[in-house]
Amino acid sequence: MNIRLDKYLADSGNGTRSEVKLLIRSGSVLVNGKIEKDPGRKINTDSDKVSCKGVDTSFEEFEYFVLNKPAGVVTATRDKTTGTVMDIIKTSRRRDLFPVGRLDKDTEGLLLITNDGQLSHRLLAPGKHVDKGYLAMVSGVLPSDAAQQFEKGVDIGDDELTAPATLKTVLDDDSLDVYFDGKEIPGTVKVHIVITEGRYHQIKRMFEALGCRVEYLKRISMGTLVLDKGLAVGDYRELKAEELKGLGII
Ligand code: URA
Repeated sequence: MNIRLDKYLADSGNGTRSEVKLLIRSGSVLVNGKIEKDPGRKINTDSDKVSCKGVDTSFEEFEYFVLNKPAGVVTATRDKTTGTVMDIIKTSRRRDLFPVGRLDKDTEGLLLITNDGQLSHRLLAPGKHVDKGYLAMVSGVLPSDAAQQFEKGVDIGDDELTAPATLKTVLDDDSLDVYFDGKEIPGTVKVHIVITEGRYHQIKRMFEALGCRVEYLKRISMGTLVLDKGLAVGDYRELKAEELKGLGII
């Protein structure tokens, strides 16, 4: 890929576009060992060697992180009053990252953060029907045919019923139970839900339609991506090569 030197430096974490322009003009940037003072100089990201203030740079067009989102932070790139999921990602070099889809402020769990708009579209576009797995603790009396109602589609007040979804009870000896981190909420049942849509407050509204209330919600999977059981709430990591393959990226 060929891009301008100022964009290359900004995208590889060396400052804003205007900051890196100043660095370039001050003679702090070398391209293939020679001082380059033109911010518009085209850089071949595969073959040119760029250093900034004596430090070699490396360029990644896309970055991919999986975050175990904690409750209490909003899924947005910016918020005037509250912390956002982007404040948690400290090791990114890119400034154009965004969360793929949205979890409510009080929802925990798997959130993909990237600057790859095409991947985001592939995962979120309504026609793609990507599975999203959630664990919930639900209060109220869960009807005995709740799973069948989820399968048939639930009226949550939209024009159309929800698309078929699966609902299963999570038992204490279930391999999914570990995701609850030992949390127990008296008077609730633990359930695993898989939906293929991403409507506003969808899981909460589906349970409301059944006369129940979601007291705790955590996403554990999105397409082929599965939240690691060992990734603590509030921690994040870069995606591994096999996960990128699973998502069709490499
Ligand atoms: N459904 C919800 O109700 N909330 C979320 O955060 C995600 C799915």
